[in-house]
Amino acid sequence: MSFSNEEARKKAKIQANKEPRHFLTLMDFTPEELTQLIARAIEMKKHWKSFEVYEPLRNMSLAMVFDKSSTRTRVSFESGMNQLGGHSMFLSSRDTQLGRGEPIEDSARVISSMVDIVMIRTFGHDIVEKFAEYSSVPVINALTDDYHPCQLLADMMTYVEHRGSISGKTATYVGDGNNMCHSWMNAARQFNFHLNIASPKGYEPNAELLEELGDNVTLFNNIDDAVDGSNLITTDVWASMGQEEEQKTREKSFKDFMVNSAVMAKADDNAIFMHCLPAHREEEVSTAVIDGPQSVVWEEAENRLHAQKALLEALIIGLPNTLEA
Ligand code: CP
Ligand code: NVA
Repeated sequence: MSFSNEEARKKAKIQANKEPRHFLTLMDFTPEELTQLIARAIEMKKHWKSFEVYEPLRNMSLAMVFDKSSTRTRVSFESGMNQLGGHSMFLSSRDTQLGRGEPIEDSARVISSMVDIVMIRTFGHDIVEKFAEYSSVPVINALTDDYHPCQLLADMMTYVEHRGSISGKTATYVGDGNNMCHSWMNAARQFNFHLNIASPKGYEPNAELLEELGDNVTLFNNIDDAVDGSNLITTDVWASMGQEEEQKTREKSFKDFMVNSAVMAKADDNAIFMHCLPAHREEEVSTAVIDGPQSVVWEEAENRLHAQKALLEALIIGLPNTLEA
């Protein structure tokens, strides 16, 4: 795919007349499409870093609906949309009628009639599903209680940049069977790697998803076996947004689930460490690991920008192989 604004805008017009395509989980794209998307993100990153201008989304708008806090997601989407020539608007549930109980269906119809694409960060995954059902434009899941697919686009891109294809490798997720864990499980299937998961008893990932993705995922109740020889180690906070009152209980349940230097030593010598951030040092990860030589967390965070620019382009304009000329 080129960086021609004219060609991109012609394709955007074709795409706008089709049923909108949504990105609610990694399963909404085929493995081939995801591979293309990552390649495009790497290409867009280089292009941007060479100070080249590509503004195919001029006069277009992104609505960013936030029911939860964010640093990376907000900054990367807002900056990304700006870099592509478009505009973004931050819609907090505190200030919109969504926060005062206006039905999702009504909000989706109205918001989508005025913008070109919508991004939502909220609690229940059913909320983004319902929004997408009633939206006339593409909807992106920017984190729900169940999934965080945008983060995995950046994570897969970061692995490719550091180590090449992740196909056939082993990754280990240490910690809570939460939204990040579920998206790592989807990634294992879509990018063809094996995922070991080490979670304390009672904090395992969704059982149905485990069953469905069983060929790509193995569950452990201790870290040592799960990280043995692994090519990538990742973790996440012990208490996610919305679980703040469980923090103290969770600190006790997760105390043996910190990724520290001893854990990293059991992984492959070439293993890299990832964390979606924000991180709690000396809880789920030691300071030595997150700030150490195997950690790629800062590039991983920056890659949210590049991966989501490729996603915005894919949903509004199209992926290289999925559009007629
Ligand atoms: N990783 C991530 O989504 O970060 P924010 O919560 O800061 O957006
Ligand atoms: N599991 C975390 C991820 C934050 C990006 C949360 O939902 O709070």
